[in-house]
Amino acid sequence: MKALVLAGGAGTRLRPITHTSAKQLVPVANKPVLFYGLEAVAAAGIRETGIVVGDTQAEIEAAVGDGSAFGLQVTYLRQSAPLGLAHAVAIARDFLGEDDFVMYLGDNFIVGGINGLVDRFAHDRPAAQIMLTPVADPRQFGVAELDSTGRVIGLEEKPRQPKSDLALVGVYLFTAAIHEAVAELKPSGRGELEITDAIQWLIDAGQRVESTLVTGYWKDTGNVTDMLEVNRLVLESLDTRVEGTVDAESELIGRVVVEEGAVVERSRIVGPAIVGAGARVCGSYIGPFTSIAGGCSISHSEIEYSIVLPRASISGVGRIEASLIGHDVEVTRAPATPRAHRLVLGDHSKVQISC
Ligand code: DAU
Repeated sequence: MKALVLAGGAGTRLRPITHTSAKQLVPVANKPVLFYGLEAVAAAGIRETGIVVGDTQAEIEAAVGDGSAFGLQVTYLRQSAPLGLAHAVAIARDFLGEDDFVMYLGDNFIVGGINGLVDRFAHDRPAAQIMLTPVADPRQFGVAELDSTGRVIGLEEKPRQPKSDLALVGVYLFTAAIHEAVAELKPSGRGELEITDAIQWLIDAGQRVESTLVTGYWKDTGNVTDMLEVNRLVLESLDTRVEGTVDAESELIGRVVVEEGAVVERSRIVGPAIVGAGARVCGSYIGPFTSIAGGCSISHSEIEYSIVLPRASISGVGRIEASLIGHDVEVTRAPATPRAHRLVLGDHSKVQISC
């Protein structure tokens, strides 16, 4: 069995972060979301892994290398443009050969790994095995229609009028039967080769497509709200670890990680929270469910339920909540007069100011 991990694509919903970096590398508890997927693949006993990459290939390769750190043997597969999930399967045709494979979307987060799914697939070997989960707004996902016995009879990608609230989760298992389906596809209304259509093709051809219904199992980290929620989920299982320096005037409450070389002075950190290697927290409050990446500087500020990416600096700005702050960003206090906000914001930035 092989793995095909998708780490190309555009990441429009995480802009402006994804103007400058791959969405699959946005950190959750200071570790790229993609790494959790690669760990899940390795834990399921899979070695040979193809990673589909696009414009951010160099960045993904620099982070993942040859895969040996994960116990994987990684082959990079370049996709000329994000032409769809089924297009990614098509360009991986030679790499996949006639083997069964798990396709894992690199921005998806599966709580508890994929061992059970992979074992079940290896035992039953349907043409395709998918996971479904109820969601609040199915129009943003692939949506399944089931018959009265629970069998999948129809799949639609991002339908305007969904036939159910059951979304396709971004982990799929296939035999080589999928390649014939992919070869028959035409681009969808949004111009992509949809894996949803390929699975529908298998159903129409009378091939076996199995589905499992899961709840509380999965998050697509494609937008900021979900990203913060996944960060919360991962931080929930954090164990206290203090490798950096915490002065006597500081207080760490609950499960807090202070990584090597980090310095905490005159501050209060309420866990679960993580302060990355070499970061500096001074005269500040770091609240629960917050990840401060390596090399950040937080001084005379309060921050809670947020993700701060490497080397960002936040100084003297009161309270920040539910925020995703990019690499090397500077947030500082404006001079006392005039009372005005001074902003240098990249394209597609989103700012909410409380006056
Ligand atoms: O998250 C689950 C959903 O994922 C499913 O319910 C949908 O049926 C499925 O189409 C997919 O929808 P998204 O709109 O979330 O897909 P997205 O464009 O975000 O791509 C998912 C991952 O695959 C992401 O890591 C980028 C990568 N990708 C995407 C495309 C379109 C590629 O590597 N190449 C591509 O051509």
